[in-house]
Amino acid sequence: MDTQTLQRIGIRAAYRAGRILNDYFVGEFKINKKGTIDLVTEADLASEKMIVETLRETFPDHGVLAEESGASGDNRRDQWIIDPLDGTTNFAHRLPIFAVSIAYARDDQVEVGIVFHPISGELFTAIRGEGARLNDQPIRVSETAQVRDSLLVTGFPYTVATGDTIRPMARFARCLAAAQGVRRLGSAALDLCYVACGRFDGFWEEHLKPWDTAAGMLIAAEAGARVSDFSNGPYHIRHPEILAANPHLHPALVTLLHNEDS
Ligand code: IPD
Ligand code: CA
Ligand code: CA
Ligand code: CA
Repeated sequence: MDTQTLQRIGIRAAYRAGRILNDYFVGEFKINKKGTIDLVTEADLASEKMIVETLRETFPDHGVLAEESGASGDNRRDQWIIDPLDGTTNFAHRLPIFAVSIAYARDDQVEVGIVFHPISGELFTAIRGEGARLNDQPIRVSETAQVRDSLLVTGFPYTVATGDTIRPMARFARCLAAAQGVRRLGSAALDLCYVACGRFDGFWEEHLKPWDTAAGMLIAAEAGARVSDFSNGPYHIRHPEILAANPHLHPALVTLLHNEDS
């Protein structure tokens, strides 16, 4: 199966899911708790159902790894990695910062990444080796060379409410002191895409899941970002830490994040 076809069908699924999310966003929806602060809404479930159904129309034998329904199909050679609504907490509070994230991975290597922000209509896409695009126009990371001039973005895992806050907060404090500013948008997929198009200069977060990062990290990498873990080791979608930044800033951010006592 050629990557263009995979991308075309993935985009179809993202658009259909985006319409569902936009409709729920201005209407009523039920909210359930998966953990103390971890939510799932009717919109997450309806979006995921639509994405999986759309992909299965064309690729009935492909595997799926989706946030709300887990892994299905035993095909790991061709697998779709899906976050039907990245930014559920924002969505539940009617904050219009959320996205659909769909990636296709062959033998665990992401080949196609699609992130759709349905409120603005911005569609971020990448095919491995072919660059990244925003609404079909090529995008590049920023040229910012000094941390002092950089706008960074991060996120905190749901476990931060009950688990280790010392190390994530120490990292946050060091970056905050060094950068021009640090934002926390609440959608890792959009964070990565905004690094890809230069709105942010760098992004880091820990304890993300494959569906949070698979599409966005390919889009960032294809736009020229360096993507690694906090100590400049290779990043893989099952790795607990991700740092994505323009190549000028990446070494300085590794130094800030990978500190002896963190
Ligand atoms: C969350 C978002 C958020 C990040 C959390 C993720 P969800 O995903 O990406 O930005 O900080 O760690 O779990 O649950 O809204 O799909
Ligand atoms: Ca997510
Ligand atoms: Ca989600
Ligand atoms: Ca979630």
